[in-house]
Amino acid sequence: MRVNDRAKIACRWLVGGLGMTAVILLGACNDSDDTDVTIDDGQSSIWPALKAEPPSPDGVNMESRIADMVDSMTLEEKVGQMTQPQIDAITPAQVKQYNIGTVLSGGGTWPGSYNGDGDKHAPVSAWVNLANELFNASLESSSGIPLIWGIDAVHGNNNVYGATIFPHHIALGATRDEDLVKSIAQATAEEVAVTGLDWAFAPTVAVVRNIRWGRTYESYSQNPELVAKLTDDAVEGLQGTLTKDDTVIATAKHYIGDGGTTNGNDQGNTQISEERLAEIHGPPYFSAIKAGVQAVMVSFNSWNGQKMSAQKHLITDVLKNKLGFDGLVVSDYNAIGQVEGCTNSSCAKAVNAGIDVFMVPYEWQDFIASTVQQVKDGVIPMSRINDAVSRILRVKIRAGVFDAAPPAQRPLAGKTDLLGSKEHLALARKAVRESLVLLKNRNNVLPLDSEAQVLVAGKSSDSMKRQAGGWTSSWQGTDNTDEDLPVGHTIWEGIQAQAPNARLDTDGSSVDASTDKVAIVVVGEPPYAEFMGDIAADSRIGKAGADTLSFAESYPEQFAVVKRIHDAGIPVVTVLVSGRPLYTNALLNLSDAFVAAWLPGSAGAGVADVLFRDDTGEIAYDFTGKLPFSWPNGPCMADIDAEDYDPLFEFGYGLRYGQASAVGNNLPVTKREKACKTVMQAG
Ligand code: BGC
Repeated sequence: MRVNDRAKIACRWLVGGLGMTAVILLGACNDSDDTDVTIDDGQSSIWPALKAEPPSPDGVNMESRIADMVDSMTLEEKVGQMTQPQIDAITPAQVKQYNIGTVLSGGGTWPGSYNGDGDKHAPVSAWVNLANELFNASLESSSGIPLIWGIDAVHGNNNVYGATIFPHHIALGATRDEDLVKSIAQATAEEVAVTGLDWAFAPTVAVVRNIRWGRTYESYSQNPELVAKLTDDAVEGLQGTLTKDDTVIATAKHYIGDGGTTNGNDQGNTQISEERLAEIHGPPYFSAIKAGVQAVMVSFNSWNGQKMSAQKHLITDVLKNKLGFDGLVVSDYNAIGQVEGCTNSSCAKAVNAGIDVFMVPYEWQDFIASTVQQVKDGVIPMSRINDAVSRILRVKIRAGVFDAAPPAQRPLAGKTDLLGSKEHLALARKAVRESLVLLKNRNNVLPLDSEAQVLVAGKSSDSMKRQAGGWTSSWQGTDNTDEDLPVGHTIWEGIQAQAPNARLDTDGSSVDASTDKVAIVVVGEPPYAEFMGDIAADSRIGKAGADTLSFAESYPEQFAVVKRIHDAGIPVVTVLVSGRPLYTNALLNLSDAFVAAWLPGSAGAGVADVLFRDDTGEIAYDFTGKLPFSWPNGPCMADIDAEDYDPLFEFGYGLRYGQASAVGNNLPVTKREKACKTVMQAG
């Protein structure tokens, strides 16, 4: 069975929940009418004039080589280069026939998917073999231009069985550790190279301004400077000098304003002036371009009512001309179908706006046919096609693809010992340690003694799937079992290794104050990705009926576990595993200590490293993580730019051992009925 068309699922979901009229009114499935947009006329200083710093030898002959190649290509060959099918919808023979330039595997597509379900546990050899077949097929095409294969390696090479799953970006934002981010990106590039692939659709450089968004965890921070800083490291780590065997092409995504949509709606509308767009959402792109990023992915969202995929001003005038980006611009998954007047297989507007590579997973043959026809009809100028192909060739030359051996013969390909290696797991564990943010530590209940009799409870305490989150092994991450995620340790396993007297009882029903001296309760969100994770302000999508950020109201059963243990009279250390800050006042009141652990991934053992003293009674690791997002003080306090935004903990907050907690056990608790409804009506 093929993976469903995700944009369509999103729209169907909306239509089902709201009715078609409301969906049209919301403009969520299609491009709405353009509203007036202030634009930089090229003279103003809204956007900086930048110079890209390509990481590979940008030789004098490269441009004439590109021009010669473009000159010698037919229109069909050129459009083939611009077309990106998904691996479950194309055969090597078709790669050859259509001169396909790039392919993708989105979340949950693995080798073997073609005409079948795909193999979630596909071994490295299956990835390498398929990469090899597709590559060799492209060499046999009439243009002979080698193909490249891109994948969502967003927290490690997370689609691949046995890969190291690093903490999601939000956790890395908490570390503020540039060297660490770079090392993780290098390790990710290595694990991608092991599978024979060339291109990572990472890093996500969204600056998220509303934590209702289901992609908040893919963002380093709400703060543009912090995102920009870490973007630089991520790009350098992934790309290195590009021509090396253990590096891949990086992609800054999703251009631009993805984190700024109204109410945090996934694929929604970002309604801000161009100045503000540049100020808040621009800096990570400035940084990525300066670091030499070779690909930029255009976002699903609209800017002031017009879908980004049709925003010629922002793609061509700003990104390519003003910011000097000379790599390739790729569209998002079927995103062109959301442009007014377009379908998933035809969108001259998006070509003319400046997109170079079209992620058209399934309807790629129709896309080729319609684009060729639009050029013949004069709707798309040949100069635009030539610009697109030149950029694709430029990236391929810089990445050494023309000189590269077929994937199976590359030095790292098939080196299974590098995938999920001990070294990478150790790096992931360091990242987990550094990402933990201590929000409360009453009476210095932490650190715990390694001899302590600890009750460990909570739904996220012993679950690889919950600590890994979305974009892990599959797209949503919801159907994963422990067998799907063989590398690393759960948080419980880490505690068990550190504290031999600890015991696990997930629902805490056996709590006994005479023997349990302290409890670590690990609670959190289930996995989700993209719009499935939206906490909608208007109950449209996301978890059924959920419109509140309140942990207690969204997850009453998990809350009850914490309450049960608290009521039994033992100190409670709450560890929250989540993709975003949540409204946790009720939970904080029951907790003596409270730790935000984000989505740690494979190395759950990093949590115990910090919570416990070592065997000699020393603190081996203090808390160093700082909040990458401020923390809400109400069930509807999601919009960081709202006038009345008044968080409980500011961006940058985070205690170290010995520091006094700013909150006690009597925080006011507001219920959704009283708060969110008013916001919903107003919004
Ligand atoms: C996401 C992108 C991702 C692409 C390919 C889209 O739905 O928005 O971030 O790279 O799918 O899987």
